[in-house]
Amino acid sequence: MEQIELENLLKDMSLSEKIEQLVQLHGGFYGETDNYTGPVVDFHMTKEQPYRIGSILGEHGAQKLKDLQDRMMELQPHHIPALFMADVIHGYRTAFPAPIGIGSSFHPELAEKICEAVAREAAAAGVHVTFSPMVDLACDSRWGRCMESTGEDPWLNARFAESMVRGFQGDDYGKKGRVASCVKHFAAYGAVQSGRDYNVTELSERTLFEDYLVSYRAAVSAGVSMVMTAFNTINRIPCTTNKWLMRKVLREDMGFTGVLISDYGAVGESITHGSSEDLRDAAKKAMEAGCDIDMMSECYLHQLEGLVRAGELDESLVDEAVMRILALKNQLGLFENPYKDASTEDEEKVLFCEEHQELSRRAAEECIVLLKNEGVLPLTEDRKVVVVGSLADDREITGSWALFVKKEQTVTFKQAIKELYPGAHVEFILSDSLDEAGVDAVKNADRVILVLGENQSTTGESKSLADISLPREQRELFDRVYEENKNIVTVLFGGRPLAIPEVAEKSAALIEGWLPGSCGCYALADILFGRVNPSGKLSMSFPHCTGQLPISYRQFSTGRPKPPVDHYIPFVSNYMDVPNTPLYPFGYGLSYTVFEYSEVTLDKNSFSKGEKITASVVVKNAGRMDGMEAVQLYIRDMKGSVVRPLREFKGVEKIFLKKGEEREVRFDITEDMLRFYDINMDFVSEPGDFTLWIGDSSLTENGAKFRLLPQRQEQLQEV
Ligand code: NOJ
Repeated sequence: MEQIELENLLKDMSLSEKIEQLVQLHGGFYGETDNYTGPVVDFHMTKEQPYRIGSILGEHGAQKLKDLQDRMMELQPHHIPALFMADVIHGYRTAFPAPIGIGSSFHPELAEKICEAVAREAAAAGVHVTFSPMVDLACDSRWGRCMESTGEDPWLNARFAESMVRGFQGDDYGKKGRVASCVKHFAAYGAVQSGRDYNVTELSERTLFEDYLVSYRAAVSAGVSMVMTAFNTINRIPCTTNKWLMRKVLREDMGFTGVLISDYGAVGESITHGSSEDLRDAAKKAMEAGCDIDMMSECYLHQLEGLVRAGELDESLVDEAVMRILALKNQLGLFENPYKDASTEDEEKVLFCEEHQELSRRAAEECIVLLKNEGVLPLTEDRKVVVVGSLADDREITGSWALFVKKEQTVTFKQAIKELYPGAHVEFILSDSLDEAGVDAVKNADRVILVLGENQSTTGESKSLADISLPREQRELFDRVYEENKNIVTVLFGGRPLAIPEVAEKSAALIEGWLPGSCGCYALADILFGRVNPSGKLSMSFPHCTGQLPISYRQFSTGRPKPPVDHYIPFVSNYMDVPNTPLYPFGYGLSYTVFEYSEVTLDKNSFSKGEKITASVVVKNAGRMDGMEAVQLYIRDMKGSVVRPLREFKGVEKIFLKKGEEREVRFDITEDMLRFYDINMDFVSEPGDFTLWIGDSSLTENGAKFRLLPQRQEQLQEV
């Protein structure tokens, strides 16, 4: 449709019809039967009203959505098609590794490919919009939703945000095989206090802007078509009714012009937060704050009309929101083809197709992180191996945001080993406690693979933990096995870094498998047996204990920094019982080969705005196996008008080197990479001294110094 036609359509719509476009309901409102029961009654709706609303949440399947669309268009007075939105987070039918794993690939291009495949499947199943990517910065693994995040770093999250949006939407999400993307949760949901889900946040404006908003900004710049609000407060105002956050920061400053949707029930929750009086007040506040769609609360549905009629809400706000929704429908091409890509034939062809299974496996190869290896890995097929733990044959490791996968298609760890290594001597004890026979088997094994951690029931939304150590049963299992056999390879599944200092110390090898997706256990088996060389790097630090949280490699200088010693020192900033640093930091991950880094060289030592410095290293695969390496760049601003982080991640290049091969890796340093929110909250760089490091993790000391010069007079005049 042309813009003028959209405008004419809007003009022709009644107020109640417009308001219905601003409402989103879940699939439970569209039952098979004609009974007038359930949510429709609870929401005080007429039987037919759900068929006139603007968008539906969580429904999927080509035929079902075509039928539903027919009915929606029949009952909507102007035959406006509905939008079908769903949480297709790390896969529709084929599950890919959960985002926390994807983050650990340190490979945004891989994320783009994954999202392209996810979009292909979702589009064939009739979905128009996916509620992904979730780009919340996560530094506190008490929060169960870490699994949906790509981790603790603003820069890395921003790169993943862009690549995921591109993967879903392509250059035009109206095209076949693409879906519109909705970035969430705006904003700073990952900063919920004490890691408790749905809690409030308390963070400075500087932290909000410099750390938490970076990834949303990147998604907006990449053209994301929707944004979802967060459940939490910012500055003690619920995000969904926070006018400053949405109108000023998101729309005015970031330039977002798309559709803003509340999270589930969040408009109404401003009442329980205690900042809105009642449904009417909540509706008014959310609308004025710029929230276009009310997902699953009754506020807009029953309150907006009264507010407009009473002159308490400007109808132009409703019109503005409706126009954005119509524009999204138009961009998806729904006015011409209301089913978009929904096709049962395409579902047959693309859902869980071989190509996607293969990608799920290859992706997991890059996401799994080897954290420790005292020479026990890779395994050889002649060794006697015992695999212990119920998670070794659990399909619930697919992850909690793989809602539409068929769990029976998930390959378990046991299945993968049996299928790929039929000749290996592997026995399975699929229990978290050991009987006598189990103890014997463990005693007589050359290696014990102990599978511990979490599955869908213990990680994800609303799965916060006050103590992130392993559950008691698993700790006891570890101790029992350790009594009998010291050659333990611990494999962790789960969606967050756990506090496992003893397990890490006592295991001979340790692998974080995350939630690896439908075919990820093939990758895990191949890593264990050495067919695949691991290359994952942690995108979230592993703390020593819960008390260290939140933790990140992005520490700041204190007035009393701890000198580089291993013991406690009174009256400096340190703990009496644990180090300041994490057990395994951001960027850390081992390989079966050895990557040697040359010293960093710079093409010059100083530069000014408009110029660049090129920093390079030569990386050599000096080991005995081909492998991939995420070469990482960190920068420190040595002094600023405000306290600056001790190092910040600023670049990565993932390279593949055959054994013996070497390659020069270069990073261009430009002035814009050095900007931050200064003492006046202006986003600028400050001339002065910097250090950069290039290496294999955030611990690297392979550094060089450079200087950003003040702008020359001519440059200032140009400005
Ligand atoms: C609540 C979750 O917070 C959000 O991430 C999700 O997209 C919505 N529910 C819809 O399912």
